[in-house]
Amino acid sequence: MLVIPGPSSQILGIKTAKLLDADIIPLDFRTFPEGTSYIRIDGDVAGEHVIIIHSTYPNQNERLMQLYLMLDAVKDMKADKITVVTPYFSYARQHRRFKPGEAISAKTIAEIIQSLGANEIFVINIHNMEALTYFTIPATNLDAMVDIGKYLKSLDLMDPIVIAPDDGAIKLAETVGNILDAPYLNFEKHRDFETNAIVMEGKEMDLRDRDVAIVDDMIATGGTMAEAISIVKRQGARKVYAAAVHPLLIGNARFKLITAGAEEIISTDTIPSDVSTVSVSTLIADAIKKSL
Ligand code: R5P
Repeated sequence: MLVIPGPSSQILGIKTAKLLDADIIPLDFRTFPEGTSYIRIDGDVAGEHVIIIHSTYPNQNERLMQLYLMLDAVKDMKADKITVVTPYFSYARQHRRFKPGEAISAKTIAEIIQSLGANEIFVINIHNMEALTYFTIPATNLDAMVDIGKYLKSLDLMDPIVIAPDDGAIKLAETVGNILDAPYLNFEKHRDFETNAIVMEGKEMDLRDRDVAIVDDMIATGGTMAEAISIVKRQGARKVYAAAVHPLLIGNARFKLITAGAEEIISTDTIPSDVSTVSVSTLIADAIKKSL
C-alpha cells in the first residue's frame, strides 16, 4: 500500500501513512505563473494500492485540478487500486439543483473523480450527504466529531452543555453530548440568501457556572459561530468552546469568534490551520484498514 500526500494534505498524509505502515510516494507540484497546475508522481505505483490524501479547501478549484491530475497520472501509471481521501470535500453545498438551470457541482465532481479511475472515496463530515449519492463507487463519510468530543472531554468542562447553532448540526451535538455525558440542543438559524445575514434564535437558559461547547461542521466566515457564542455569553456561560471539523476561517473569522467570547477554537487538520488541535489521521487510517 502506498500513500500520496497531496499538495493540500502533506502532513496529514504523512501521519496517516505512518499509521497504515505504508510507504509514501512524494510529489513534485507547483503552480505555473499563469495559474495552471503541475503534478509529477515521484515513484513507481504500478500494481499497487494507492491512497491519495488531498483536501479541497480554498483555493478549491486549484485543489480539485490537482486531485484530477494526480488521479489521472496514477491511473496511467497502472496502479491496481486507487483510494481517494478528500478530508474536506468542497462544493457539497451545491448537492442539488435549487433553481432551474443550476449546475449540480457535487455531481460534476463525483463524475470526474470516478471517471479518472478512483475505486473508492472517503470524505469527512461532508456538508450534505446527498453529495455522495452521485458516486457509483463506494463513498464513505467519516465523523470527526467523535475525536473533537474526546478532546473536549479532556478539558474537564464545568457542568457542560453542547449546542448546535442550527438544526443541521444537531447530530454533531448529540455525538459530543454523549461523549461528555452532557445535555445537547440546537438553536434555530435562518440565513437571508440575498444579504447572507444570519438570524439566530437561542433558547431561554441560565448558563451561569456552566461551560458551553458549540459544535458545527465548519467555520467559514465565522458568522454562525460568533452569533451562537454571543447568545450563550449573554446567558451567562462561563467558558465557551467553538468546535468545528473544518476550519475554513475565511477573512476575520478568528477575530469574530474571539471577540464574541470564545475561550478556544477547536478544529481538525482536514484543513491545516493554527486551530487544528485534533488530527483526523487515525480516523482515516482506521477506515482504510477496515475497508481492506
Ligand atoms: C451551515 O449550514 C453550516 O453548517 C455552517 O453553520 C456554516 O457553513 C458556517 O458558515 P459561517 O461560518 O460563514 O457562518
